[in-house]
Amino acid sequence: MYGLVNNLLAGTLQRQYGDVVWREIAARLPFDASFFVSMKPYPDEWSYAMVGTACELTGDTPENLLRCVGHRWVSENSAGEYKDLFTINGPDIFTFLSNLNSMHAALGNQMPGLRPPSFLVQRDGEQVIRVRYYSTRAGLAPLVTGLLEGLCDFFGEPGTVSHIRQRADERDYDEFRIERTAA
Ligand code: HEM
Repeated sequence: MYGLVNNLLAGTLQRQYGDVVWREIAARLPFDASFFVSMKPYPDEWSYAMVGTACELTGDTPENLLRCVGHRWVSENSAGEYKDLFTINGPDIFTFLSNLNSMHAALGNQMPGLRPPSFLVQRDGEQVIRVRYYSTRAGLAPLVTGLLEGLCDFFGEPGTVSHIRQRADERDYDEFRIERTAA
């Protein structure tokens, strides 16, 4: 995955487990995880190895860790370099999610070989949004849960995110339900 994802992952590991544990994780990896060039693609195996090694060492689960990465993905990107994308594609979570495919496609113009996920977003009554998630990669559904929770916070729309369908293979999809809770 692109370096910006790995930098975000490394930052989450450092913050989540502290400097000492992060250095131990980095020392066990067969590549230099101290810095990634944001706009350069790296093998997916590297990102999976960072998560796997962190979990081996800390006893945390990949599900929990990826969910934290999702939260941080939204808080970091919405405050930093990609801040404007959050404003332009808002102003609410439904509109933002509906624009997510074109947002990733636009990023792909400057990121050759980008393999972004895709999302199908539907309203289900007043209080519920259903999100289908398609990806060429396996095991990242907990990341999406964290991202959707992060977006609820960012847009000030309190909600509960549930993973209601697990995909069978790459052509299939995972599905999530965001239920609005009282503010
Ligand atoms: C401005 C904010 C964002 C930027 C700059 C961004 C950019 C990227 C980039 C560069 C990748 C790596 C793809 C690759 O290397 O092939 C990626 C993957 C991904 N993005 Fe975004 N993204 C943003 C927001 C979001 C949001 C809000 C979601 C919410 C659901 C999301 C969902 C994902 C997922 C799940 C992946 C993992 C790859 C996969 O599923 O195959 N992204 N994104």
